[in-house]
Amino acid sequence: MVYRAVSITRRDAVLLLLGAAFTRLWVSVTYPGHEDRPIYIDAGHSNTFTNTITVTVSPTKASTPVTTTLIVPPSPVPTRIDSVKSTSLIHHAPGWTLFEDIYMSDGTLFIVSDNPSQFPEIRMMISTGLIAMATPENMAAREPTANEMVIISREEAANIWGADGTFANRVLPVEGNTLLVNEPAQFLRHYYHFVAELFFGVQVFWHGAFYQSQNPAPPIHRMIFAHSNTEGWRDGPGMNTFFLQAAFPSIHVEVQEAWEDRIALTANGNRVWHFPRLLLSDRSAAHRGTICGAQTQRIAAEAWKYMQMLGVRGTDWWEPVRSATLRLAKTLPVYSGDTGPQAALGFHGAKTDAPKVVITYISRQRQPRRKLLDASHDSLVAALTQLVNSKNGLWELNIVTAETMTLEEQLLVVGRTDILLGVHGNGLTHLVMTPASPISTVIEILYPGGWAHDFQWTAVALQKSHFGIWNDTVQVKTANLYPNYPEGFQGTEIPVHGPTVAQLIEEHLAGKV
Ligand SMILES: *[C@@H]1O[C@H](CO)[C@@H](O)[C@H](O)[C@H]1NC(C)=O
Repeated sequence: MVYRAVSITRRDAVLLLLGAAFTRLWVSVTYPGHEDRPIYIDAGHSNTFTNTITVTVSPTKASTPVTTTLIVPPSPVPTRIDSVKSTSLIHHAPGWTLFEDIYMSDGTLFIVSDNPSQFPEIRMMISTGLIAMATPENMAAREPTANEMVIISREEAANIWGADGTFANRVLPVEGNTLLVNEPAQFLRHYYHFVAELFFGVQVFWHGAFYQSQNPAPPIHRMIFAHSNTEGWRDGPGMNTFFLQAAFPSIHVEVQEAWEDRIALTANGNRVWHFPRLLLSDRSAAHRGTICGAQTQRIAAEAWKYMQMLGVRGTDWWEPVRSATLRLAKTLPVYSGDTGPQAALGFHGAKTDAPKVVITYISRQRQPRRKLLDASHDSLVAALTQLVNSKNGLWELNIVTAETMTLEEQLLVVGRTDILLGVHGNGLTHLVMTPASPISTVIEILYPGGWAHDFQWTAVALQKSHFGIWNDTVQVKTANLYPNYPEGFQGTEIPVHGPTVAQLIEEHLAGKV
């Protein structure tokens, strides 16, 4: 009979074996040249010890069956390499890299790949994580070496971690999604750098990575500070912890000591941690990118620009963390009447039905440095008060001194602010908590001639208008200014001409500026 000449594929063999599990189950298969004519196989019994299978075959269901024995090709024995998962690069911008199946052993991140050319230059992904200074020596010291990250083949990985066939025992899985922050404490301990820069980048990159496939994005289960202990990332006023707990209540925070424990456990080099999904953030690597390094000095700008190129638009990627933070702030006991901290702030409760423009001036006059001349502060308050008074109660003015308020009180005010203004400083970080709206605006007062992109870039990324004020001149095209820190930038004699600011607000809301 022809049937012995039938060469069966592995797939067919699997089907046959499956069929064999159910006596007298009819399985239809075809073979080369006879695709149009199925044969019918009544699987009799199989003998897995001899790799043979006895089948009864008939060209049609009705014809007389012929019993035959087929030899099933043996399954290939799994090799050591088969158990090594290759690393995948999911998304990358300078300083922001999302991996699947990346490994860490003895403090070194291992990319396991037989195709290393698909990965960007290692220096665009990672640095030594040292404190950054603008000296050639320091820049050289932050260049990564083979201690930070290497790319090895699957064969090499199997040789290192599976030489004795115990790969499974040597690989420690870190299940779920991990954010690895490779920067030192230098900037982390600061509301702006932690929330409006690091997490700004994390949010847009993470949301962007999944926005086409999975909405909302999956949770980040843990964040690891590889170079910062607990004190290194918690800022004095407590905004960083408040934000993290409000926006990521389930996140597990692991600091340097725990990371060092992971390093110690793998210090002999033949044990390894496996991260199924890991977002690596590296400040120095982000600064090696053009958008951060040459244009904005903002690490989040690399993540944001990359995701813009992928098609991410709007501010939906930020809104969940903003609203979660404000929701938590609103659980503060509500005060009514003329007493209590909110009355003292000029906080007049929830927005009324009447359309209201809410202006909030964050005063730094109680700070030791970077503040207005007293006369300038007075001129600003007078001009803003006059402006708001001329609107018959439709506009609202809040003059807030953050140092005298709880975090919740600050958040309640900025959470309903349309026009946020103040001297260049951390208080303006609250712009990330102001509502997205067509009139949402940030007005930043700087020592004349001074410039930094912190708040301008952040405001624009959140689709807010941004203006700079140099005493009595308004800087409109602020994206084009170059960072500059003239004498007086950090001082206590910053001038501002109040009526210039009031006029800007009036004209901007009238659509003239
Ligand atoms: C600020 O502007 C006002 C109004 O034009 C002007 O009178 C004052 O001299 C300026 N101050 C400084 C320090 O330039």
